[in-house]
Amino acid sequence: GNYIPVIAIDGPSASGKGTVAQRVAAKLGFHYLDSGALYRLVALVAMRSGGDLGGDEKRLSEVARELDVVFKGTEIRLGNEDVADAIRSEACGNAASKIAAYPAVRAALLARQRAFRQLPGLVTDGRDMGSVVFPEAALKIFLTATAEARAERRYKQLMAKGIDANIATLLQDIQERDARDSNRSVAPLQLGADTNLLDTTSLNIAQAVDSVLQQYAETRAKARA
Ligand code: CDP
Ligand code: CDP
Repeated sequence: GNYIPVIAIDGPSASGKGTVAQRVAAKLGFHYLDSGALYRLVALVAMRSGGDLGGDEKRLSEVARELDVVFKGTEIRLGNEDVADAIRSEACGNAASKIAAYPAVRAALLARQRAFRQLPGLVTDGRDMGSVVFPEAALKIFLTATAEARAERRYKQLMAKGIDANIATLLQDIQERDARDSNRSVAPLQLGADTNLLDTTSLNIAQAVDSVLQQYAETRAKARA
């Protein structure tokens, strides 16, 4: 039939979800969705409009519903502008995490995310890909690493881009974001019973990618048996 497999990779900030999900997608020839980018885009639009991020759930959900975004290779086009770099700032990540706690904002992004499920398959990363957006996913992974390892990864990533950063500040941001994303009442980041834990604290990217690919091969073998 027209069964379209989904591999859902959820986890905390700077665990390597995006990097691993993109490489797995490339290996399998699947589509890729960076769901966090959608929350970051809503935050960017709100920040630019000077609005109070704490405030208006209804307006933020309208921004989410009306996002004029196209993902094209490494570009993220908002209208005519490539905002792929602009949305990566830690300020935007923190703002995204605040607006992501609003149920109406999450609801507004649901259909847009599900539209990425197209043949031959989808690899997606975020916080609630396996729990809410694609509960029927063929494989669900919770990708994590210690907060210290993640702060160091983010530090190296920023420095490599020529962006000055401070490890202690990054660690604090990560811990605050972990707490906010895990404790909110709607779609919190949690390790579900049907989800496989992948701790990458002592794994490099290639090892993490191989692990996901192997788990997917096992899932498919089981489904055929
Ligand atoms: O790359 P990083 O993990 O730092 O952030 P991200 O995946 O781009 O997500 C930014 C923020 O958006 C997160 O801190 C979450 O609060 C929110 N988010 C979410 O609530 N649900 C998702 N599926 C993806 C992101
Ligand atoms: O998407 P998320 O915020 O979870 O993380 P990312 O942006 O994919 O990865 C954060 C940084 O950690 C990147 O520079 C990766 O190259 C690096 N890294 C990794 O992803 N996985 C490892 N096992 C080690 C480092």
